[in-house]
Amino acid sequence: MKNMTGLSIKTEQGQLYILDQTLLPHQQRWLHCTDVDQMVAMIQQLQVRGAPAIGIAASLLLAYRAGQGDSRAELLHSAEVLRASRPTAVNLMNNLDSMLAALQQPDYASAAVACAEQLFAEDVQLCLQMAEHGAALVQPGERLLTHCNTGGLATAGVGTALGVVRLAHQQGKQIQLWVDETRPLLQGGRLTAWECQQLNIPYQLICDNMAAMLMARGEVDRIFVGSDRIAANGDFANKVGTYNLAVLAHYHQIPFYVVAPHTTVDPSCSDGRQIPIEQRPAEEVRGVAGSFGSVCWAPEQAAVFNPAFDVTPAKLVTGWVLDSGVLDQAAVATGALQRLVAG
Ligand code: MRU
Repeated sequence: MKNMTGLSIKTEQGQLYILDQTLLPHQQRWLHCTDVDQMVAMIQQLQVRGAPAIGIAASLLLAYRAGQGDSRAELLHSAEVLRASRPTAVNLMNNLDSMLAALQQPDYASAAVACAEQLFAEDVQLCLQMAEHGAALVQPGERLLTHCNTGGLATAGVGTALGVVRLAHQQGKQIQLWVDETRPLLQGGRLTAWECQQLNIPYQLICDNMAAMLMARGEVDRIFVGSDRIAANGDFANKVGTYNLAVLAHYHQIPFYVVAPHTTVDPSCSDGRQIPIEQRPAEEVRGVAGSFGSVCWAPEQAAVFNPAFDVTPAKLVTGWVLDSGVLDQAAVATGALQRLVAG
């Protein structure tokens, strides 16, 4: 496996390393990944997270195992174990399907390595293309808003929604970014804020329940979010709280865009109701844990509802920013997303 470097995933001298995102922003610790159960645990604990990054990390782990001499039967089994690690991000399933095809080759070990390397390189390229299309929408001086973390930590490249913001900033558009902290796991407060800081993007962190007030005051010009799965009709799943933003944006007539590569489109889901939504442990809502320590502020047995994602209906979306360009309502309503994946 050749050397590849992303913000949260890297390969060096045939070894795979993942930056433990649960420890950010206070600690930067790279974890050496060698087996499937370890990778499953890392995905479930969100040490590696973000739809594209999950798919790439799982594929690289399979490639590593192939290089270690695992049999084809073992690798096929491992792929299924990895596939079940998180249910919503379809990039994981799509990337593993590519790996399964590689494993059918006579020289399956070399094919698996080549495929995982290709998935990494492809994601870098797709991110750049989305960033170009999305940044072209941004007008000078705009105040943008985003949710969760969709940057370099969540992909192999510059990111999806945050990649758009990053490029608009680099183009000198004098943008400012409102960063939703993103309860319960604080991907905005911990990760997006950290990335913005590294990139000198002017940002202000807000609690999720402050977005409405900002919109009412006319202080949000455009919203960019990522996605874990886009259904054929344009409905999409993303970090819980995204739907709130879409409703608010609609009410306040603020353009609302979802930014995702074609590897996030799932034509087998006709609409958002078909998208499986992950339920997560109650402790995440009863309190919080991270490199800063852990605290439980609710009664220890408090009953909890903790969906990791919600679904935003297509009718609330101004545009779908994909690697191939920006689709509008009319294009999506006439099947552009299905055609994109089919073609
Ligand atoms: O639970 P997470 O942190 O993996 O959720 C991530 C998101 O919701 C992102 O917006 C999505 O995966 C797109 S990342 C480019």
